[in-house]
Amino acid sequence: MKKILPALLLSVTLCSQATAQYNTLKIPDTLSGTNFDLVLKDTFAQLRPGNQTITGSINNMSFWGPTLFVNKGDTVHINVTNKLNDTTTLHWHGMHLPAVMDGGPHQVIPPNTLWKPYWKVTNQAGTYWYHPHLHEMTLEHISKGLGGLIIVRDAKEASLALPRSYGVDDIPLVLTSRRYTTLNQFQTVATSYGDYMLSNGTPDAQVSLPKQYVRLRILNAEIERAYDLGFSDGRTFYIIANDGGLLNAPVAVTRVMLAVGERIEIMVNLGGDAIGSSFDLKAFNSGKALGFPGGEPGTTGEFGSLLNNKDFGVLHINVVASTASPITSVPSALESNTYWTGSSATTTKSISVTNGTPGGLPFDLDNTPFKITTINKTVGLNAIEKWTITNNNVFGHTFHIHDVQFKIVARNGSASAVGAFESGWKDVLFLPRNENVSFVTKFEDYADPIHPFMYHCHFANHEDGGMMGQFVVVNTGGIQNSIKEELDYTLYPNPAENKLFIRMENPRNEVYYITIYNVQGRTVLMLPQPQIQDGIDIATLAKGEYFVQLMDKKTKSIRTQKFFKQ
Ligand code: C2O
Ligand code: CU
Repeated sequence: MKKILPALLLSVTLCSQATAQYNTLKIPDTLSGTNFDLVLKDTFAQLRPGNQTITGSINNMSFWGPTLFVNKGDTVHINVTNKLNDTTTLHWHGMHLPAVMDGGPHQVIPPNTLWKPYWKVTNQAGTYWYHPHLHEMTLEHISKGLGGLIIVRDAKEASLALPRSYGVDDIPLVLTSRRYTTLNQFQTVATSYGDYMLSNGTPDAQVSLPKQYVRLRILNAEIERAYDLGFSDGRTFYIIANDGGLLNAPVAVTRVMLAVGERIEIMVNLGGDAIGSSFDLKAFNSGKALGFPGGEPGTTGEFGSLLNNKDFGVLHINVVASTASPITSVPSALESNTYWTGSSATTTKSISVTNGTPGGLPFDLDNTPFKITTINKTVGLNAIEKWTITNNNVFGHTFHIHDVQFKIVARNGSASAVGAFESGWKDVLFLPRNENVSFVTKFEDYADPIHPFMYHCHFANHEDGGMMGQFVVVNTGGIQNSIKEELDYTLYPNPAENKLFIRMENPRNEVYYITIYNVQGRTVLMLPQPQIQDGIDIATLAKGEYFVQLMDKKTKSIRTQKFFKQ
C-alpha cells in the first residue's frame, strides 16, 4: 500500500479561471491487494482563496479518496471505519456482490463503527466507484467529496496493448462542480449544479501527458450535471469501455455524453502533437435540448449555475515527451462480450418516472416515493429480465440499478436508436425527457429475501427526494420449509482480550450477520456473513461490557449475548 503526502496535494497554487492559470491535477492515491482499510472523516481543503472548505476525507485525502485496484477472481475484504460525526454508508457502485455487502441505505455505519464487508470480484476489468448512500443524506455526503474509484483488472484486459500506467498514460478523471457560500463552504441546499469545476478535486486542473496514446477513465461524479465531452480542437478519440468494462471494439467519436454515475474509458492520440503544445478536454454544454441536465439558462438559483448552458474546460492538457514504451495505436478488437437481446428476457418489468406529491417531493418512480420498509420488486434468482424505464417527465433523468450490469436493447422501442457509445455493459443510463429505454440483465448468484438492492435516479437530490425503489432477488427453487431452528451459540473465552470465539451449538444454524454494540447501545462492529473460524478480532475495542447480536442465515432469527472485553 502506498501513501502520498497530503502536503503534496495541498501545494497546488490557487488561481482564478480568468487568468488562465491552472493547478496540477491531483491523482488519487492507490491501494491494492485484497485487504483494504478506508477511514472516513471530516477535514478541510484549500479549494479557493480565503477560508478552507469543510470536506470529507478518506485515508487523509482531502476531497475524493484513494483508487482501489482489485483483481477479478480475488476475494477482497474492506475495513470501513466511520470517523465522521455522522452516520453514513459506503456503496460499491457497479460491483456484483451480496446485497448485505452492498453498502446501500440498509448497511448503515454509525460513527466510530467498523464495517467489514467482503466479496469475490466477478466484474470484468473496468472503472467502478464507491460512495456514501445513506437515504436522504447522499447529496450531503457526496458533496463533501466522499468517494473513490475502483479499478478492476483481469487477464483479458492485461493481454491487450492498452495504456496502463496509472497517473502517467492511464489517467483517472473524476468530474464534478460545486457552488460555494460566501464563507467558502459547499452549498448543498436547493442546489442542483455547482458553479466551479473540480477535476479529481482540483480547481482549474491541468495535466502533463506524454506524446502518445493515453487513456482517460472518466467518471461523472456530479449531483445532476451531464457533460457532453470532447476536445477543444475537435479531434477524434476512441471509447474503449463503458460502466461495466471493455467494449468488443473501440468506437471512434468526437463527442460523448456522460450523465451522473456513468463511466467511460477513452483513448486519445497525442502522438501528432508538438511537445510544449496544449489543448483542452471540454464540456460542450451550450445550446442543448430541453431536459439536458445543466442546459438550463440561468446562472443562479436551484437550477441555474455559472457553468450552465455553456462550453467550459474540464482539463487542460500539456503535451510532454513520450514515455519509454508508448502505446502508439488503438487495438482493433477488445473484449468478446456476448450480450443479451430483447428476446433473451423471460420476464419484463416497467418503471415510470412520475411527478412527486405537489408541494412535496419533485419526482418519484411509479408514483411511489421511496420507503425503506417497502420492497417494490421481486426478481427470481437467475432470471433474465427486460426492464423498460419510461420518462414522460419534463426533465431528463438517469436510471441506475445495483447488483447487475445490463445491456441497453432499445431506446423508444428501437434497437438501432441505442448509441454505439453505450453499447457495452452499463449500470447507469441517461433517460431523456419523453423517452423510454429498455435493458436486459440477469440476476445471478446472490439471492437474499431480506436484504434488497436499490434502483434509482442517480441525481443525488432526486434519490434523496424519493426517486428510488428496491428489489429482492429470491431463490424460488430453494424455499425452505420454515421449521424454526433454535439459535444457540456460546461466546468464549468470556472475558476475552484479543479474539472472541463463537461455538454454534446447533449444527443447523449458520452465522449470517454479527453486530457488536456497547452498553450505551452504540454499534461498534458490523460483520456481514463473517468467517468466524479464527475468532472475531476485538483487540481494538475499549475494555468493558458488550453485546453480540447474531443472526441465523436460514431463519434470520436473532439472539443477543453478552461478553466482557478485558
Ligand atoms: Cu452509485 Cu445506488 O448508487
Ligand atoms: Cu432524476
